[in-house]
Amino acid sequence: MASTWDELIQQIKERLDIVEVISEQVVLKKRGNNYWGLCPFHKDKNPSFCVTPHLGIYKCFSCGEAGDALKFIMKTRNIEFKDLIIELADRFGLEVPHSHSQNSSSTKEVKEQMLAASMVAAEYYHDLLLRQKDTNSEIALKYLTQRGIGSDIIKKFHLGIAPKAYTTLYDELRKDFSNDVLEKAGLVLKSEKGGYIDRFRNRIIIPIQNENGDYVAFGARALEKDQTPKYLNSSDSLIYNKSKLLYGLYTAKESIRKEDSVILMEGYFDVISSQAHGIENCVAACGTSLTADHVKLLSRYTKSRKIYLSFDTDSAGQKATSRGAEIIKEVFKGLGDIKQFDESYLSSDKDKYACEIRVIAPPEGKDPDEFVRSAGADAYKMYMESAPLFIDFQLKSILKNKDNYKTPQEKAVFIKQIIPILAEIGNKIIRSGYIDIVAQTLNIDKSAIQAEIRTFERANLPQTERIVKNVTKKTSILQKAQKNLLSVFLVPDSHFTFTQINEMIGDIKFDDEILINVKSTIDKLICTVNNVKELIEHLYTEYIDNPQAQTVLTELISMSEVYRGLSEEDFQNVIQETIDKINRCRQIKEAEHIKNLYKGIKDDDPEALKIQIQLRDKIKKNRQKTEKI
Ligand code: CTP
Ligand code: MN
Repeated sequence: MASTWDELIQQIKERLDIVEVISEQVVLKKRGNNYWGLCPFHKDKNPSFCVTPHLGIYKCFSCGEAGDALKFIMKTRNIEFKDLIIELADRFGLEVPHSHSQNSSSTKEVKEQMLAASMVAAEYYHDLLLRQKDTNSEIALKYLTQRGIGSDIIKKFHLGIAPKAYTTLYDELRKDFSNDVLEKAGLVLKSEKGGYIDRFRNRIIIPIQNENGDYVAFGARALEKDQTPKYLNSSDSLIYNKSKLLYGLYTAKESIRKEDSVILMEGYFDVISSQAHGIENCVAACGTSLTADHVKLLSRYTKSRKIYLSFDTDSAGQKATSRGAEIIKEVFKGLGDIKQFDESYLSSDKDKYACEIRVIAPPEGKDPDEFVRSAGADAYKMYMESAPLFIDFQLKSILKNKDNYKTPQEKAVFIKQIIPILAEIGNKIIRSGYIDIVAQTLNIDKSAIQAEIRTFERANLPQTERIVKNVTKKTSILQKAQKNLLSVFLVPDSHFTFTQINEMIGDIKFDDEILINVKSTIDKLICTVNNVKELIEHLYTEYIDNPQAQTVLTELISMSEVYRGLSEEDFQNVIQETIDKINRCRQIKEAEHIKNLYKGIKDDDPEALKIQIQLRDKIKKNRQKTEKI
């Protein structure tokens, strides 16, 4: 057990894997020792966000945001430090010292109760169906059999039945759970008369599991033809966030890993039928359209981010396909090209591409559920193997309308839809291949299409960001040199002890408030810590409430990388060079200052001559010093 709060924090830090933590929010790609992704703290176009696992830190080289795993969680979830530590302690099974544990557990208890109530409800509905305990059970079983769903599938997906009566579930669960918990879990609703009624009635129940397999929500399909809505879904709650959860993921995740690909479908029954027929790597959003968080969730399971979209083939499904593809592209933007052709015979580097998006669209116009049941899993797999890339699918569905556009003016309007698609293709040869196809199909000159692409690209150039970047880069050289010098303390596996480093640095003064503070904290800590890792950990703990200092600290850590692996001699030389640079900058600054004073003195001032002579001497002396260095 952690006997003190600080020990608990250290134990939690040891257990947190920063890559894992950040991957929950940011898609990361490994390059060398670091991982790179799009910064979640500003609108990032190219990956400027770097995670360095062996130091346990992240840093955005564009907006400057930086810190460790704890800070990342605090910032992205907007949660207080103390609450986070208590939550993580709970997750890792660590005990919280009594001094900090007061009244923190109320939400935790409510959540646990909600999870328990949802599980009991899922079991109850399932039992009613399977053992035919309700008058509705028979109708439901008949309906499911018609849909090709037998008792094995019912068991695997824990399907259930909600009776017609108003308070069946409530009467069962009120013995063990408070009204508040049942209402919060979305199982009951307050009735107009002031009592409670079941939320789901006269419906097939599809319990929804989170990534850990806990039941957290329900989808419920109408049993009768004219019953509305067709699907009634749980609302978001303390334990359920539908924009971050995918139906079927718990049962699909092993297969998604193994196949290194995932199929996104639209409906609960698409997933149920497909998984039941052996197509296991499929999931669906629950009564909501695909979100960026869904895609991020999937990218944690598929290394090469190969995503199949298998939506309905009606026009709503087509729209969902385009929207889904746009979201996927947005999430992976900047992480490399979208895979546009199969080059497995040229390169085995699976991580080369940002992602690969393909569309499974059997010509019969059925949704995956109907297709798998009528044509079989093998036929579906065949369509999957020959599934076109999203770009081909997209071009084909646009080009098939070409005959509606005949005059040059109409063609110009028509081609406007295609230009952004072509502009997205990074590889010039592939792009030219597609331009050929479009030019031939529409009978337009190739160079005209190329010119349109150039115009489009110019209009979409990200300008403002570049300007801002240049301005912020002009931070003072002096300050940078000082940071460089301080970073020497944080070099891992250094040949020198902290005391030796302090001697080398000598009495150099720092002139930035944060740097002064960091230096004095380092001086204080190096008496007690054993190595750089400990020093860094203690520094972060020290600055937990000082985000500015934390940012500087992370900057220092990444700066320290340049000293890594240097020989003793080179190490000392670099330190000396840095010290010289600081001195030189200071002298130049002072000279500038004196020059300005000199300019400011009026000739008719009685003291003028005297001061002028003094200043001239000073400038001269300073110049000599500067030239010597
Ligand atoms: N959906 C929903 N609410 C509705 C209709 C649909 O939440 N009123 C969601 C459900 O998650 C459903 C998915 O959208 O599974 C797809 O809808 P649809 O194609 O209409 O349903 P199917 O899966 O084809 O349903 P079924 O086969 O049961 O008719
Ligand atoms: Mn459907």
